[in-house]
Amino acid sequence: MIPTGQSSAVALRAQVSLAASAVVVAAGTGSALLLVRWVTGGPSLLVMVLTVVVPAVLLWPIAGFVGGSRQVSGPATAVAAWVVATALAVMAGVAGTVLLLGRLPDHGEGEGELMGAATAGIALAAVLAVPSARRVSPALRRWAPPPARLPDDLLAVFSSRSAHGAELAELLRELAEALRRHWQLSAVHLWTAEEGALRCSVSVPRPAEPPGDVEAKDIHLLRRVSVAGSGWLHNWLPGLLRARTACELRLAPAVHGRDVLALVVVERDDDADRFGEAEERALMEVAQRLAMVLRNRELDERLGDTLRDLRRMNQQLEESSSRLVTAADAARAAIERDLHDGAQAHITGLVAAIGRVRNSLCRAARFGDRERAACLADLDALTERVKEVADALRDLAHGIYPAVLTDFGLRAALKAVAARSTAPVTVDVPDSTRYAPGVEAAVYFCCVEALQNAAKHAPPGVSVSVCLWASGGRLHLMVRDDGPGFDPASVHRGRGLLNMKDRLRALGGELTCKSAPGAGTTVCGFVPLCKEA
Ligand SMILES: Nc1ncnc2c1ncn2[C@@H]1O[C@H](COP(=O)(O)OP(=O)(O)O)[C@@H](O)[C@H]1O
Ligand SMILES: [Mg+2]
Repeated sequence: MIPTGQSSAVALRAQVSLAASAVVVAAGTGSALLLVRWVTGGPSLLVMVLTVVVPAVLLWPIAGFVGGSRQVSGPATAVAAWVVATALAVMAGVAGTVLLLGRLPDHGEGEGELMGAATAGIALAAVLAVPSARRVSPALRRWAPPPARLPDDLLAVFSSRSAHGAELAELLRELAEALRRHWQLSAVHLWTAEEGALRCSVSVPRPAEPPGDVEAKDIHLLRRVSVAGSGWLHNWLPGLLRARTACELRLAPAVHGRDVLALVVVERDDDADRFGEAEERALMEVAQRLAMVLRNRELDERLGDTLRDLRRMNQQLEESSSRLVTAADAARAAIERDLHDGAQAHITGLVAAIGRVRNSLCRAARFGDRERAACLADLDALTERVKEVADALRDLAHGIYPAVLTDFGLRAALKAVAARSTAPVTVDVPDSTRYAPGVEAAVYFCCVEALQNAAKHAPPGVSVSVCLWASGGRLHLMVRDDGPGFDPASVHRGRGLLNMKDRLRALGGELTCKSAPGAGTTVCGFVPLCKEA
């Protein structure tokens, strides 16, 4: 909670107000008792002194206890005034009656005149007691120093709680309530910036009609103002508080740089004290501090967002690299399998076939036409199989890293892929600019996978296009087909799309795949171009 510690000025004012009431009561009661003593000869002086002093002495601690509360000190003063007025009026009546009846106690020479003067004084006091009591409070308020400042700890705690992530709405409500209490306001409203406009986030107490917004087009009006009153509001923002006239108000915008971050409006009933210069200064200070707190909060939030993004990216990178390692292992296993089942099997077969040709040559001492023809046929078959091995090895090598990419770059490599594809592929790569090998490899393998997907998942004959372009320090790729498409939310997620993402993310890029049933598939991605090869 924002501390509710009493402002010393407010407390003093209320205490003085209560003490003045005590003195008035004591004086009234004392005069009345004096009159009674004159008329009746009693009570004793000690009883009189006690009757006057005890309430006054008791009222001091009460004043200390409730100090600062206008709700208590104000009515207490009024009640005191009524008590005194009534007591004096009754006494005046009694004394007047005694005087009229001529039954004065004989306490000595001249007492009759003194009694007459006292009675007249008491009657006058009775008449004046209430109206003068009504003025006691304002007079005391003027005499006591006004609560010009909010206690510093209020705003300090507001800042520190804000820094510790307390809910802004809750903080603003506490601030509004504390302002209202400390400055004895009838209402406090706080607007905060939201989507370019200022919306009223807190109103204490809740008004019957909610305050209006400051629209984006009107916000510039507030930049020129430090503190303004109802006249300004009436002229420039009449819709804000429905141009309230029955109250005294001040508004102060919370401005930081050129941004209006909040607006504070404080109200006092028309018959209450007017706002003094010191209070206006203090309100301005509150608005400035509020602006600082809100700006800091905004910066903290942005910093928090950036940190969260960084953490997320870091986590994605960690996951990507672990997947890349797994993918690399899987790729090695696939190469080993291809070598074993493909080229290696071919070569083993070749060795066996060469052995058979050799045996034939050894057995035939002299070649007849038939043997020669058989040997030639075997040799032709061997030649064919050697070609197959060469093809198999070339395909394998191409899958690992195509030489054309290393030698001629992306344009030539993608054209070579398009030429091998079963579907018609349009390649739109404007020039043969070379990029860093990592960039070229990542973009190439993404395009190859996307083209393979189009060939694999779309029916033959769909048109496919691959397009590369560099802009804004990035190399962009787009592979599009007009095939059947798929629903990304429900489709089985294969390794292909994930590998593509991982490859680009590892370089600081990103990849998206847009598709819908019947609407074809578009794969878009980019990598940042840090340096060219
Ligand atoms: N161009 C495409 N046309 C239609 N479906 C596609 C296309 N690309 C991807 N898909 C769908 O997305 C799924 C995941 O693709 P991918 O991750 O490459 O795995 P894989 O190709 O091994 O199945 C595919 O199984 C397929 O259903
Ligand atoms: Mg695939």
